[in-house]
Amino acid sequence: NDGALWGARFASGPSPELAALSRSTHFDWALASYDIAGSHAHAKALAAAGYLTADEEQRMHAGLDALAAAVSDGTLVAGPDDEDVHGALEQALIAEVGPELGGKLRAGRSRNDQIATLVRLHLLDHSRVIARDLLRLVDAIVAQADAHRAAIMPGRTHLQHAQPVLLAHHLQAHAWPLVRDLERLRDWTARAAVSPYGGGALAGSSLGLDPQLVADELGFARPSENSMDGTAARDVVAEFAYIGAQIGVDLSRFAEDVIIWNTREFGFVQLHDAYSTGSSIMPQKKNPDIAELARGKSGRLIGNLTGLLATLKALPLAYNRDLQEDKEPVFDSIVTLEVLLPAFAGMIATLRFDTERMAQLAPQGFSLATDVADWLVRKGRPFREAHEISGALVRFCEERGIELHEADDAALAGISADLTPDVRDVLTIEGSVASRSGVGGTAGVRVDEQRAELVARAQAV
Ligand code: ARG
Repeated sequence: NDGALWGARFASGPSPELAALSRSTHFDWALASYDIAGSHAHAKALAAAGYLTADEEQRMHAGLDALAAAVSDGTLVAGPDDEDVHGALEQALIAEVGPELGGKLRAGRSRNDQIATLVRLHLLDHSRVIARDLLRLVDAIVAQADAHRAAIMPGRTHLQHAQPVLLAHHLQAHAWPLVRDLERLRDWTARAAVSPYGGGALAGSSLGLDPQLVADELGFARPSENSMDGTAARDVVAEFAYIGAQIGVDLSRFAEDVIIWNTREFGFVQLHDAYSTGSSIMPQKKNPDIAELARGKSGRLIGNLTGLLATLKALPLAYNRDLQEDKEPVFDSIVTLEVLLPAFAGMIATLRFDTERMAQLAPQGFSLATDVADWLVRKGRPFREAHEISGALVRFCEERGIELHEADDAALAGISADLTPDVRDVLTIEGSVASRSGVGGTAGVRVDEQRAELVARAQAV
């Protein structure tokens, strides 16, 4: 292979088996445009240091522009003999500008500092797409919460009726983790905005090239402080994969709620036809496949993170070829999220809630028992006793198959002299929700206040 980036010290070319194992063009071609952007920046650094004349630099940029155009219109693709994107593009450049000029670009750089830089550029670009998609999902959740500001539903712990809550409170509870994911992406960006270019193979360049110039050209804040760290570290990639996995896990929890709410037994939501699927055998079926795929793909996103961490574990410094394995998992996380988030947002935006049914079920299962205990505390009883009295009332009602508010005056008095009939004032779901008015509580005023904070935090990212 005449175009290979190495070979002079070898008596023979690579075996076909080695070539097949080594080849990475089927995934690193996705970095071709970044490779060319890096080459533009590197040409400037070479010219600034006196290794390219003004004319050579100008011809180099023109040649690279021609490559970029050919990559974007698909006329330039990696060939079967190309080992990786870097080699393929160097060959194409040489074909474009000739071996004399084309052969000068590789001075002072290595595929090791190139690849570490290009991966960051790719992740930074896609972090913006993912952040936009996350924001759209948050918007869809807030819009649903806004459409149901007063609706009350059963709040659950252990999946059992616990205390009534506003549907808006529950929906917004799913938006907060996504806002934190947005903030995680933003925080990650600061660590990712460091350019390994100029680190060479591991030790830096001896040609007096300026890594800050390259960093500026590529939109990074600064070059790596340590060329070995720059070329060998992949924590920035792993952190990105973690954020992807966390987004997947957050979606999976929301998905699970949607799946349960959509069962016949719950009947809290109906999915829009455009965001649900049918069965090939059962004509009546309407399935929550988007939610199930979100749940399933969260496993895949976790796998991408753990696989990458396993690759990095105990890897000695500096660059090792193992690091080539960083790309496929994190590229897969990107593709997965970019297809999942828009579908999930569409599913949420088009959910139809049966708020009547939610309200009807909200007081059932003795979900107002805490309100009885709190009412007794407000009347001066120690909570321990109040808990006992309310618990006795629950037991009384359960044995008779009635709800708390259905116990008559005599029954209340029989359980405790403190259970006067006006206890029924707190036995409404509206009263219960309104009473939880501390910061972060489910009272309407607090949920509205929280909504404003949520939107402000999402938009600040
Ligand atoms: N394809 C490699 C990677 O993805 C970059 C090339 C470095 N190769 C090498 N033999 N040093 O990490």
